[in-house]
Amino acid sequence: MHMPSQTDTLLRHRAPLASIDPDVAAILDREVDRQEHNLELIASENIASTAVREAMASVLTDKYAEGYPGKRYYGGCEFADEVERLAIARVCELYGCEAANVQPHSGANANMAVYFTFMQPGDTLMAMNLAHGGHLTHGSPVNFSGQLYKVVPYGVRDDNELIDYDEMRELAVEHKPKVIVSGATAYSRQFDFARVRQIADEVGALHMCDMSHYSGLIAGGCYPSPFGHAQVVTSTTHKSIRGPRGGMILGDKEHITKINKTVFPGLQGGPLMHVIAAKAVAFAEALRPEFKDYARQVALNAKALCSAMIEQGFRIVSGGTDSHMMLVDLRPYGVTGKVAQEALEHANITTNKNSIPNDPESPFVTSGVRLGTPAVTTRGMGEAEMADIARFIAQVLRAPADEANIADAKSQVVALTKRFPIHTK
Ligand SMILES: Cc1ncc(COP(=O)(O)O)c(C=O)c1O
Repeated sequence: MHMPSQTDTLLRHRAPLASIDPDVAAILDREVDRQEHNLELIASENIASTAVREAMASVLTDKYAEGYPGKRYYGGCEFADEVERLAIARVCELYGCEAANVQPHSGANANMAVYFTFMQPGDTLMAMNLAHGGHLTHGSPVNFSGQLYKVVPYGVRDDNELIDYDEMRELAVEHKPKVIVSGATAYSRQFDFARVRQIADEVGALHMCDMSHYSGLIAGGCYPSPFGHAQVVTSTTHKSIRGPRGGMILGDKEHITKINKTVFPGLQGGPLMHVIAAKAVAFAEALRPEFKDYARQVALNAKALCSAMIEQGFRIVSGGTDSHMMLVDLRPYGVTGKVAQEALEHANITTNKNSIPNDPESPFVTSGVRLGTPAVTTRGMGEAEMADIARFIAQVLRAPADEANIADAKSQVVALTKRFPIHTK
């Protein structure tokens, strides 16, 4: 009889996931299937390359590397150092900046590190009103940012739904914030980063840009760059830039040196070295000329989807988009964001409900949905498919409770997704 040896036990570590843990393997298979057959229109999502995922699944997950390259608290960090230096060099080349911290575990952590470095609890933070497109970490009362700081929000004008820089200036002069944040989570238009810096300089504030949503477009030259206007730039690495889930902070040496101490040992322990390796891969991908074509197509697709949605009778907040996303006002169709998100999901179209400026509905119901084109563009779709997508959305929302209608739309969506495979080429 064969007795399992010590070697057998060790070799089991090399066995495929499906043989070690069929439960998790089956869940992952179902997620692959969901991604294949759904239209991913969530503006903050994308499809990372196999190379990015391979780096993320690498042996670097085993390594503790507290500290920074050349100054670690553990031995055996030579390759951790090498990969982190590579990630930093590549991201600095990509955005033309001097220094970077690639260790933040997420976009929220990156923002927290900047706030902790340049503000004390009770200081004043100015950022975009959440109801007009700002992020939770831009001062929501349910987030640390709204709890630790006095928050002065700026917003969009009622008449054109564009940022009101005159109001921003007046508020800044009155409240003297320590930090002014540009960037948003649901604002589709260009930010005037130079104007924000002018206002920040006038009141002695730091201008921090949270470019999380726009980072891929900025890397591809399709959205104005905050560099040269913001002293510090934070970002997620998993949205339009198409890397692994994580965060980063960019800027000049002086600011990043201060921020480094806040990230470690201030806020985090060991960096996720496998994720940092995957960030390095994503930055190399974004430095390739093809990435510019990708970014351009993301923006063209957003414009095409926007026009097609208007043709279908929807209203687009501010009348258009300068980025990868748009906010759709659903009121012409008489449905709420909550109803729309659920009905669209039944037709394999993934979106998120979103408040629109001056929304009469609560944030749990909303009058809008946010649509974004990074993921559908990654799988190869172009402007013709954007017109199809707008048609499917209109079909579902014309009769969101009609099961036969939803089933008909779903079969058209699945047929479209089959023409643009992701993982099963
Ligand atoms: C503008 C902005 N900043 C920060 C974040 C937070 O990123 P994370 O979810 O990685 O913490 C997001 C995420 O949606 C975002 O849109």
